[in-house]
Amino acid sequence: MKNHIIISKIIKPFKKKIGVDGDKSISIRCVLMASQAIGTSKIYNLLDSEDVNNSLVAIKKLGINYKKFDNYHKIFGLGINGYDQNKSVKIYAGNSGTLARLILGLLVNTKKKIIITGDNSLSKRDFSRVTEPLKGFGASIISKNNSLPVQILGSEFLRPINYIEKRGSAQCKSSIMLASLKTSGTTFIKAKKSRNHTELLFKYLKIPIIVSSRKKYDLIKIKGPSNFKGFEYKVPGDMSSCSFFIVLALLSKNSEILIKNININETRTGIIKILNKMNAKILFKNKKKYKGELIGDILVKSKENLRGIVCPKKYNSSAIDEFLIIFLVAAKAKGVSSFKNLEELNKKESPRLEIALKFLDMIGIKYLRYKNDIKIYGNPNLNLSGNYIIKNFRKDHRVFMMSCIAALTFGGKWKIHDKDSINSSFPNFLHKIQELGAKIN
Ligand code: S3P
Repeated sequence: MKNHIIISKIIKPFKKKIGVDGDKSISIRCVLMASQAIGTSKIYNLLDSEDVNNSLVAIKKLGINYKKFDNYHKIFGLGINGYDQNKSVKIYAGNSGTLARLILGLLVNTKKKIIITGDNSLSKRDFSRVTEPLKGFGASIISKNNSLPVQILGSEFLRPINYIEKRGSAQCKSSIMLASLKTSGTTFIKAKKSRNHTELLFKYLKIPIIVSSRKKYDLIKIKGPSNFKGFEYKVPGDMSSCSFFIVLALLSKNSEILIKNININETRTGIIKILNKMNAKILFKNKKKYKGELIGDILVKSKENLRGIVCPKKYNSSAIDEFLIIFLVAAKAKGVSSFKNLEELNKKESPRLEIALKFLDMIGIKYLRYKNDIKIYGNPNLNLSGNYIIKNFRKDHRVFMMSCIAALTFGGKWKIHDKDSINSSFPNFLHKIQELGAKIN
C-alpha cells in the first residue's frame, strides 16, 4: 500500500465545528498512573494511537491487566509495588519519548532487569537526561551512548534526590516525580517551567505534593512512598493536535473553526499567545476546570494582516511541540519573526530545527540562523506553484502534519511521504482535514 499522499489544491473556505483526539501526554500519564493505583481505574477518551497503545502493552508486560470498552478503558492497578517482579522483560516504546522516559521512573524499584527499546527515531534520542537522575535514586542503569536500548535494574534501598531540571523538560521532571512515588523521604525538584500534567494528576490523586511556583521555575516537593486509589478520568482534546487546525483556519481565506473541548492548561498554550501577538484573534470559549486542568473550546478565524513577532523565550516550553506549525505563520506574516534558544527542538522525534530550515529554503522563505536562534523573513504574498517533496524526516508525525497544512494553504503540488507517521499521535488527522474539505490523493 502506498505510504505517501498528494495534495495539489488549496483548501476552500470552510466554517466548521470539530473535535480532536485525546491528549497524548495526559493519555500516557493516565495509563501509567492507573497501572500503579490500587484498584480499578476507568479512563474515558484515551487517545487511540501507537504511543498510547505501546503504553498499554508495556503495563501488560509488567503484569497489569486492562480491558478496552467502547468509550473507556479499565485498568486494574495493583499499587506502587504491583508490577510483576518474576520476569525480566523487554518493553518497546515505539516512537514515544514520553513513554520510555516516564516508565523508567516507575522502574526504579524493579527487582528484575527491564530493557527499554524504541523505533529508529527514539533510538537516536538522548536518555541521560533521565538515566542520570534515576541513578541518583539508586537504580542501576546501563545504556550505550546514553541512548536506547536502556537496561534498568531497580534498588530496594531507594533514596530521594534533590534535582535541578534546567531544560524545561516535562518528561525528565515527570520521570523523577514517578520515581519519587516509590521512594521513602522527600524528593525535591527545581524545574524550569514545563507542562504540569503530572503535578495536577498527583494533586488530584491526593499524593503528598507541594508545588511552589516562581517566575521561571517551580519548586516541587513529593513525599513518598505513596500509594493511591484507582480513579476515573476523561481525557480532553490535545492542544498539539489542535494546533494544525488553528493554523489551517488562520491561513485560509474566509474560514472559521470552533475546536471543542481542548486542554488549554497554560503550560500548553504558548502557540495561542504567540499567534495572538502576531495579530491573530484566537479566543477561548466555555472555559471550565476539570481535575485541575483547564478545558475549553477554541475559536479561530482567518486573518490576513498577520505580523512578525519577537517571540519571548518564556513561551518556548509551552509551545515546544508547535514551533514547526508556528514557523508556517511566520513565513506568511509581514516582517521578521525571531525565535531564540530553540536547542530543544533538535532533541525531538526528528531534528526539527534543521528540518524547519530546510523546509523554509524549499519554499523560498529567507531566514538567518545564529546557533539556536532564528529569524524568519515573512512574505504575506507567499503563493506557491512548484512541486514539493517531503521525505526523510525520520517519520516525525509533526513534520508530516505541518507539511499538509503548508500544502493546503500555500499552494503548489506536494508529495508527502510517510503517512503512517501520524499513527503515533493523531491517526485521525487526515480524516479530519478531509472533513474540512481538503482534497487528498
Ligand atoms: C512531553 C513533553 C515534551 C514534549 C513531548 C511530550 C510530555 O517533551 O515535547 O511531546 O508528555 O511530557 P520534553 O519533556 O522532552 O520537552
